[in-house]
Amino acid sequence: MSRMKSVPPKTAPAQGTLGVLVPGIGAVSTTLMAGVDLVRQGKGKPFGSLTQIGRVRLGKRTEGKEPLIRELVDLAGLDQIVFGGWDPVPDDALTAARKAAVLPEDMLNACAETLSAIQPMPAVFDKAYVPNIDDTNVKTGASKRALADQLVADIERFRADKGCDRLVVIWCGSTERAQELGPVHQSLESFERGLAESDPAISPSMMYAWAALQSGVPYINGAPHHAADIPALREFARQKQIPIAGNDFKTGQTLMKTIIAPGLKARMLGVSGWFSTNILGNRDGQVLEDPGAFRSKEVSKLGVLERILQPDLYPDLYGDLYHAVRINYYPPRGDAKEGWDNLDIFGWLGMPMQIKIDFLCRDSILAAPVALDLVLFMDLAQRSGMFGIQEWLSFYFKSPITLPELYPEHDLFKQRKKLYNTLRFLAGEELITHLGLDYYESAESEAR
Ligand SMILES: NC(=O)c1ccc[n+]([C@@H]2O[C@H](COP(=O)([O-])OP(=O)(O)OC[C@H]3O[C@@H](n4cnc5c(N)ncnc54)[C@H](O)[C@@H]3O)[C@@H](O)[C@H]2O)c1
Repeated sequence: MSRMKSVPPKTAPAQGTLGVLVPGIGAVSTTLMAGVDLVRQGKGKPFGSLTQIGRVRLGKRTEGKEPLIRELVDLAGLDQIVFGGWDPVPDDALTAARKAAVLPEDMLNACAETLSAIQPMPAVFDKAYVPNIDDTNVKTGASKRALADQLVADIERFRADKGCDRLVVIWCGSTERAQELGPVHQSLESFERGLAESDPAISPSMMYAWAALQSGVPYINGAPHHAADIPALREFARQKQIPIAGNDFKTGQTLMKTIIAPGLKARMLGVSGWFSTNILGNRDGQVLEDPGAFRSKEVSKLGVLERILQPDLYPDLYGDLYHAVRINYYPPRGDAKEGWDNLDIFGWLGMPMQIKIDFLCRDSILAAPVALDLVLFMDLAQRSGMFGIQEWLSFYFKSPITLPELYPEHDLFKQRKKLYNTLRFLAGEELITHLGLDYYESAESEAR
């Protein structure tokens, strides 16, 4: 639930230090940390980030007003950010970044001082949820509640040590195994009882989400599994008036899907098959070898086309669509993955055509600016008194969370419009409908 009323909320100024705490010091989070440090030093450009280089049009097209987003709304600057995090692997962020091998050695050397100072706090970790990790840096406690309380203590210690004025927690940890929600997830009361009784259906990521909310800190989920999106934690977020957002950063193949599918649909072209396959060799790929973790990802990736194409409304065009997604762990590629898509489409009179996409992308290079924007926008949301599900940030997610009675919007361009109009709204500017008839009405009345 967002705190949208017809009057824009007042946004508290973005002054002081913004702490960013990440469960998961791996490829994505170290690429984010390295990037922020390199940009701060003037040794890199923040391409891919709306908050750093994006602009937003205000008013009419004739007015020529397109300020930077960060001039329109008050966002924390990169020099105000400090990072910390947890990981079951005890590597500092520099060592983790070297192992992830996303960025070249010269770039990592240039930010070595900052990264090597980021030591992971012991994680709340459970092999039942992520089996393929060698866990040596983990917390122990008498119950899940005791472990979650240790996370709250970590957050408060970090806040005090670093002098943070505000914090955001963003999950960049491994994908946990998919699970059906049960009674323990349905209310805050049952969830907290489950924590005390160490209910096996409570995952580590749910415990981080609970700890963040308990500490008054916004929570973002970059992975596909359930975390803050369960009824119990949605209730907690509303009660504590804290924003939550997720799930699963939208990068790579799904980003392409949500760019191309709306275009085909906009022109009423049919799709009979969409086969997607990937090879990747990073630790994320290794974790996704596990069928339970892959199932989380698969559900997240498959839902996208169904929602965009609406086969129930367009049965002739999309009713028989065969959609498959495969991920194969292939170590030689590391983080430099390759995603192939074959689309069987049809047009006028049902005549068939094909589209082939071969995207040689770098997952963490696409994910880092998404993570940065999410952190800065969630901080903005909290300073503006917005709480609960932040649907306006769906633009960044493969499986955007929404209220149960709403379906998620996957079309990147509708998501973008919503994001931009929310920013205009927060800044007290007029929303843009793109109707534009008034330009022609005034031109024609002049001509008469
Ligand atoms: N790279 C992308 O484009 C992309 C896109 C969408 C989603 N994601 C998701 O983001 C997450 C991070 O991806 P990555 O490539 O950085 O993976 P990674 O394997 O490099 O890093 C994940 C880290 O999380 C740690 N971890 C596992 N369980 C933990 C726990 N309970 N507490 C704290 N740390 C824990 C692991 O030890 C590892 O260091 C994954 O869930 C991935 O599916 C990534």
